[in-house]
Amino acid sequence: MDLAIDLAVIGGTGLYQLADLQDAEPHQPVTRYGALSGPVRVGTLDGRRVAFLARHGEGHSVPPHKVNYRANLAALQALGAKQVLALNTVGGITERFGPRVLACPDQLIDYTWGRVSTFCEEEGTEVLHVDFGDPYTPSLRQRVLGAAASAGVTLVDGGCYGATQGPRLETRAEIARMRRDGCDLVGMTGMPEAGLARELGLDYACLAIVANWAAGAGPQIDEVITFEDVLDNVAAASSGIPPLLRALLAG
Ligand code: HPA
Repeated sequence: MDLAIDLAVIGGTGLYQLADLQDAEPHQPVTRYGALSGPVRVGTLDGRRVAFLARHGEGHSVPPHKVNYRANLAALQALGAKQVLALNTVGGITERFGPRVLACPDQLIDYTWGRVSTFCEEEGTEVLHVDFGDPYTPSLRQRVLGAAASAGVTLVDGGCYGATQGPRLETRAEIARMRRDGCDLVGMTGMPEAGLARELGLDYACLAIVANWAAGAGPQIDEVITFEDVLDNVAAASSGIPPLLRALLAG
């Protein structure tokens, strides 16, 4: 079922739909990897075919460590997607990445464990050692950055995304260690998604939405992070996403 999709968007926490998607039809392709997070809504945005999938399900019922990343990506590919823009809600660690900032990271470090992180699992499957030096597809990143510039949306270029296991947030010591490691952002869903996308040969870039200062990273060291703050900041920062997507599709 190849619908020739121009762009697939995976939405994260607080981003459960694409408001501007017209004539959206739900699709739930069956893949060998089991159930995906929910329906893939395929519709039109400014005349281009766009697919949207809520990573945690439309009612946010799937926690980060239980997301069936393989099924989600395999389903998008089965529908005809070749380019995936992942929207990831994150905490900010370093100065440039405060709440409500949008960023397009260029590196990542994987701290997750126990997740199925490859398509090379089944016996008889070819073992792929895909290049992952640039975990996000440079050409798609450049297009996202160009789209933001032409839409007048402020987007930080670069940064290192640290993927943690969750669903709990991190300790201050964990964030201090991540800062020493070189992480600028912390989130729970960046991996294995990016690695799996590379194995499938999909172009993949991350648009990170900073929802909060990570533990101990903000001006008030013992600040408690609440889910309400996270959702408020995601809602505020998300106003930049529709114009950025439109510019990306136009480009
Ligand atoms: N840590 C991990 N994931 C997150 C955070 C955080 O502080 N905020 C939003 N997603």
